[in-house]
Amino acid sequence: MAKITVNDLDVRGKRVFVRVDFNVPLEEKDGRMVITDETRIRETLPTLNLLISKGAKVILASHLGRPDGQVVPSMSLAPVAVRLGELLNKPVRFVPACVGPEVASAVGAMQSGDVVLLENVRFHAGEEANDPAFGEQLAAVVDVYVNDAFGTAHRAHASTEGVARIVAKRGGVAASGLLIARELQFLGDELEQPARPFVVILGGAKVSDKIKVIDRLIEKADAILIGGAMAYTFKLAQGAKVGLSLVEKDKTDIALKALAKAKERGIKFLLPVDNIVATPVDSGKKDKKGRPKMDLTQPRVNVGDNIPDTEEGVDIGPATVKAYAEVLAGAKTVLWNGPMGIFEDPRFAEGTFAVARAVAEATQKHGSKSIIGGGDSVKAINKAKLGNQVTFMSTGGGASLEFLEGKVLPGVAALKDK
Ligand code: 3PG
Repeated sequence: MAKITVNDLDVRGKRVFVRVDFNVPLEEKDGRMVITDETRIRETLPTLNLLISKGAKVILASHLGRPDGQVVPSMSLAPVAVRLGELLNKPVRFVPACVGPEVASAVGAMQSGDVVLLENVRFHAGEEANDPAFGEQLAAVVDVYVNDAFGTAHRAHASTEGVARIVAKRGGVAASGLLIARELQFLGDELEQPARPFVVILGGAKVSDKIKVIDRLIEKADAILIGGAMAYTFKLAQGAKVGLSLVEKDKTDIALKALAKAKERGIKFLLPVDNIVATPVDSGKKDKKGRPKMDLTQPRVNVGDNIPDTEEGVDIGPATVKAYAEVLAGAKTVLWNGPMGIFEDPRFAEGTFAVARAVAEATQKHGSKSIIGGGDSVKAINKAKLGNQVTFMSTGGGASLEFLEGKVLPGVAALKDK
């Protein structure tokens, strides 16, 4: 169901509370926190510029990280206010609280077109608990509610869901921002009746993370191409040897069911025909969780279904890339979620990057519509510098996955229908 958007609102002089997802990666450099990827800030600019031009008083709220209801200075949104001010080309006042007298006084001093950014809502336990009392505190300065935090729309928290309901109950409007509207258009409407052939590429570590999406997409797609470690669970289910590859041994039954369903529906369901494999060797170091850290040594192409006992699959191989690229060349709609291998390591990035190139080419040369379903696949396509050559990249990780599974996102459900 389409939602009311900021385009439909008259907000002149009104206090508009905008829930954004400024959960950006930060790194400490020379004693201060520096934003290392500002995509999520930039993606909100159309909504914010529109509200400013319409004369709203824009009150921004977001979470950053998982501070679990505690004040964690390294998770403050203060650095975001500085960068946002530069991007909007106007001052953004940072309020070091998200509820209470400081907020009331800052909002009381606002003029039409002003922007304030509140401190991390997750510094209060009431946020994640969706505590109605905390929701009322947030709502105390709100005339109109706007949600543009697609990345957090799968969370029923106070600022993503509670405040929307409180404002609506008072007779106010809870509307969607332009980013959420675009996400719903591409991940929802465009995939409802896709131009065919509709090709889906699924990767990532676990079949269990993606099984609901696989199950749903088998009913819509013409072809599904599988990569990433989850391919090894499918291979194991078919009786192949997977060596030391990451697998979910207890999930082979769901893999077999998916294969049977694809066959029954007559769709192409492709698994890798070759892989890049490497030999894990104990590095003598420990990872963050105190487990032995393995170095992946002696990478090579492994042809065929079986991986030797001492080796691990880390990427799809060249023959698989060729086969997948051929299918993608004929696609009219492409949906991609999940990398093909450990693309963070340049030695094992080629499969993922080659798929990224094939998706970009299908889009640019064959007019295919390409939708990148968030998280690691977006990171990969940006790393391959092809972000501007696909049709749409989702800003949601968990949120886009849940949406593609067909789940109702609480942050979207709370908004007013058109
Ligand atoms: C994300 O980065 O996926 C969103 O900002 C949601 O964050 P969360 O998983 O901590 O709720």
